[in-house]
Parts: sequence; structure tokens; C-alpha cells
Amino acid sequence: MMRSTSQTTSQRILEALPIGLFVIDQQCNVIFANQRAREILQKIAAKEASRLNVRGLFGNNSPFDYVIQKVFQEGKAIRGFRMSLRQSEGNVPVEVHISKLPAEAADGTIKAGKAGGGDRAIVMFDDVTGRLELERRMAEAERLAAIGELAAGAAHEIRNPLTAVKGFAQLLEHRLQGEEPWSTYAGIIEKEIAHIDEILRDLLLLSRPRQSSLEYTNLNDLAEEALVLWGYHATSRGMNLVLKLERDVPLVVVDRAEIRQVLNNLITNALDASKSGGVVEIGTRWNPDDRMVEISVGDTGDGIDANSLAKIFNPFFTTKEKGTGLGLSVAYSIVESYGGAIEVESAAGKGTTFRVLLPVPMACAVSANTGGSARYDE
Ligand SMILES: Nc1ncnc2c1ncn2[C@@H]1O[C@H](COP(=O)(O)OP(=O)(O)OP(=O)(O)O)[C@@H](O)[C@H]1O
Ligand SMILES: [Mg+2]
Repeated sequence: MMRSTSQTTSQRILEALPIGLFVIDQQCNVIFANQRAREILQKIAAKEASRLNVRGLFGNNSPFDYVIQKVFQEGKAIRGFRMSLRQSEGNVPVEVHISKLPAEAADGTIKAGKAGGGDRAIVMFDDVTGRLELERRMAEAERLAAIGELAAGAAHEIRNPLTAVKGFAQLLEHRLQGEEPWSTYAGIIEKEIAHIDEILRDLLLLSRPRQSSLEYTNLNDLAEEALVLWGYHATSRGMNLVLKLERDVPLVVVDRAEIRQVLNNLITNALDASKSGGVVEIGTRWNPDDRMVEISVGDTGDGIDANSLAKIFNPFFTTKEKGTGLGLSVAYSIVESYGGAIEVESAAGKGTTFRVLLPVPMACAVSANTGGSARYDE
């Protein structure tokens, strides 16, 4: 009685294993297949599991024949052998473990098929599709990190000699004052150096781990600051910079300098896209459902065509003659580091709105029905 109960238990354990398990004889005929193995088998052929031969499960020229021979002849266990399992939808990468199971040990727990007798082996296999994808992503992340480090190193090294070049260019421009066209040329050199310096600064920002100094921040304050900073610039180009702020927005915890940079990058883009008479609107909004505060920059410019829209966050994507194409990728990487998001809405000829969503920490929770007592003064 006791024995039969324990047999049932061990059989149940085999059945419940999340990996496929076969017991095979020396000819590789399947004697037992657990549930997971049967699930996979069904996809291969509608045959009864016990009439199958495992050789057919792996692709032609698979090393399985060689490996199984070694197991039976030398009694060695093979672990973590990667092979592909043939399936109707394509090959599935599996990791296979094989070990020899003497006939006596299988006695009772495993029902011998017609090919029973002699030595047997256990073949276990695990679908490693997910793991391979993870490995691929990790390798990709490592590769990107290495490129980032290289770019940061190069940017840093280029900046030093550039400072010297800049100094001499300034000196030349000063000395050549009034001597045309040389004075203009020196001016161009100086301007282009400033441009290179900007690209390097952005590259450093992108690739370096940032050290943020976090503070409770009211996004309305940053919007008001931006109006002071950009208002005159906009007006002098015949554009109108306006604020549309929700009165009570909860605080977010951010490095203000970083969010200022995000705003600056969005506002310069909006102004670049606008013509005289255009309006650039900076808005804030609290979305209690997602617990996100939104700060948006909308313009009435040309809009972004669908083709470009897919690429605007890519580093170095630009449609501007003098653009570096780093503004939005810097903004994206900053916002992402806070667990936020940037959404874009654009209509050709009508304009574009960028919405930056930043998460509100629990401590700044605002109850939607407190009638807007959500302003936190520092
Ligand atoms: N508000 C906008 N309206 C229309 N196009 C936009 C807008 N914002 C971004 N774009 C498009 O996205 C591209 C990438 O913007 P991004 O800020 O990354 O680089 P950039 O402005 O070209 O150069 P910079 O590095 O100097 O900012 C722009 O060249 C432009 O084509
Ligand atoms: Mg830009």
C-alpha cells in the first residue's frame, strides 16, 4: 500500500515538472513522457508519445546521436547542452540534460514500453527562448554601455584641446577686427567651435551616469522661469510664449537643472518650428489616475511628418541645417530616468505638442475630491 502511494507521488512529481522529461531506451524510443514533454510532442506529431523516437525531435544533423551514445557507453551525464527542437512553427531552442538510468531504478516508477529492458536514459529539456532573448538584450546593453563610455571618453578628450583652439580663435578675431574677410572667417571658426562644444556637452550628458540632486519641485515654477528666460526671445521673433498652468499641481521629485534642460530643449524646438505670429504654450496638468504631472510645450508650427516622427528621439536625427539632433534624445533620457514618459502629438500644418509626464511620489498624494488643496509650498 505504502509503496503504491509513493509511486503515485513520484509519478505526480514527474508530471508536474515544468520541464519536459522523457525516459528513453537505448534505441531512443520514448518509454515515458511527462506532461510538459507531451505538450511539446503534440505540436510535433499526433502520434502517441510512447511510439516516438526522440531522435526525430531534434533537427537533422543534431549532435543528439553523438551525445546519447556517449551517455549510454560511458555512463556520463550531460548537462546544459543547447539544441533546437523541431516544431511546426519553427525551431525552439532548448537546453538538454541527459543522464543514464539503469533499468532497476526505473522499476515500478516507469512503465516499460514494448522496447523496454536494458539501460535507459532520462532526457530533460527546457525551453530557453526567453533566456536567450534576455542574454541577447544583456549583451546589447553591455555593447551600448561600452559605446557610451567610449563616446564620453572621446567627448571629454576633445573638449580640452578645443578650449585652446577657442582661445586662439577669439584672439585672432580680436586682432583681425576690421580686416575683411579674415575677421569674418575668424568669427565663423569661433561660432563653429561653440557648436562642436555644444554637441560634446550633449554627448557627455547622454552617456555619463548623471549625479542628480533631487528636490521637491513645482513644475509651475519651472514653467514661469521658462517664460522669463524665453519670453523676450520669442517676442523679438514675433512669436507669443504663453502659460496655461493648472493652479494646483502636486510636487515632483526631480533635479531642477535637468527638467529645466528638458524644457529648454522642447521650447527651442517649438520656437524653431514656429513662424512669426505663432504661439508657443507651456502648460501643466495633474493626472490623478496615472499619478503623473504633465508639463507640455505646444506650438502652432509646421508639425512633424509621420516619417520623421518615428525618429525624432534618435540621437543625431535632425532636419535642421545647424541642428545636432541631440536635444530630444537628451530630454528623453532625462525623463526616462525618473520613470516618466514623453508623448508627442503632431498635426501637419497645425503644430506639435510634447507632453512630459513625471510621476508623483506617494508622499505628495493628492486626493481628487479635496477641491484642489494640492499645492505644496516649500
Ligand atoms: N516642435 C517641433 N516641431 C516640429 N519638428 C520638431 C519639433 N521638435 C522636434 N522636431 C523635429 O525633431 C528633430 C529632432 O529634434 P532635436 O531637438 O532632437 O534636434 P534638433 O533640434 O534638430 O537639434 P538640437 O540638438 O540642436 O536640439 C528636429 O530636427 C525636428 O525635425
Ligand atoms: Mg532641438
